Amino acid sequence: MTEFEVQNPTPAVETFDLVRRFGVFTAVDHLNLRVQRGSFFGFLGPNGAGKSTTIKVLTGLLGPSSGKIRVLGRDLAVETLEVKRRIGVVPEDLNLFERLTGAEMLAFTGRMYGLQKSEIAERAPELLELMELESEPKKLIVEYSHGMKKKLSLACALIHRPEILFLDEPFEGVDAIASRTLKDLLSRLTERGLTVFLTSHVLEIVERLCSDIAIISQGKLLAAGSLDELKKGIPVEGDGERLRPVSLEEYFIHIVGGTRISGEEEVLQWLG
Ligand SMILES: Nc1ncnc2c1ncn2[C@@H]1O[C@H](COP(=O)(O)OP(=O)(O)O)[C@@H](O)[C@H]1O
Ligand SMILES: [Mg+2]
Repeated sequence: MTEFEVQNPTPAVETFDLVRRFGVFTAVDHLNLRVQRGSFFGFLGPNGAGKSTTIKVLTGLLGPSSGKIRVLGRDLAVETLEVKRRIGVVPEDLNLFERLTGAEMLAFTGRMYGLQKSEIAERAPELLELMELESEPKKLIVEYSHGMKKKLSLACALIHRPEILFLDEPFEGVDAIASRTLKDLLSRLTERGLTVFLTSHVLEIVERLCSDIAIISQGKLLAAGSLDELKKGIPVEGDGERLRPVSLEEYFIHIVGGTRISGEEEVLQWLG
């Protein structure tokens, strides 16, 4: 345990047999997660694994079908509003009011969280500058590029100083420079004690940033632990006792199964 965890023993997020169904389909299947405070947590899985659904359930955007969720030591079903006040979310679909300017959207979000006007006046310009969105103050969000919308959504998620930041695919559609800014910012925030919970399928980014990882597929948890632990290795073929150190990508493919495309030779012959 790190010194930070010793001082803050309640996990940031805990789920107990969490299930979310859509009709007869089970998108999240008896998930037991534990995210320590102050950790940089990467939630990984192939497309359709249930990552976005899990984030929506953990942040109160969707109700669970069954199971329990504790966020910052509180039962999400009981203390929903108190939890929402303490977390920030950048959801998959961003949820911005496109007819507002960035500054207006930030001010609106700040007021929703009950911030004083003076607090908003102090924080909003700083956040816009940090996200490099300050140069065109009159621009409406509808005219923003996808990357700009993402950065604004992140600014909105930070304005009330959350204790946990949930980010669904934060690097998707973001250019290399913005992505660098974002990575630096997130690393700095976790150093100050913020917990980051992010989903991604870009394994190189996760490998560079995250301290802890969980991998899901078809709604089920397949692996969880510190990145260093997971990368210690996978069993050497023919000698199950020995471990071979691996990259996160190799580990991911080993766990999730890299054999889904079989018979590559026969298919796509028409492509030449
Ligand atoms: N509102 C919904 N209604 C029905 N099925 C859904 C809904 N949202 C997600 N799903 C299904 O749940 C599964 C997991 O989706 P999602 O959580 O978005 O995966 P991921 O984010 O890991 O790519 C997918 O098969 C998806 O089609
Ligand atoms: Mg998703």
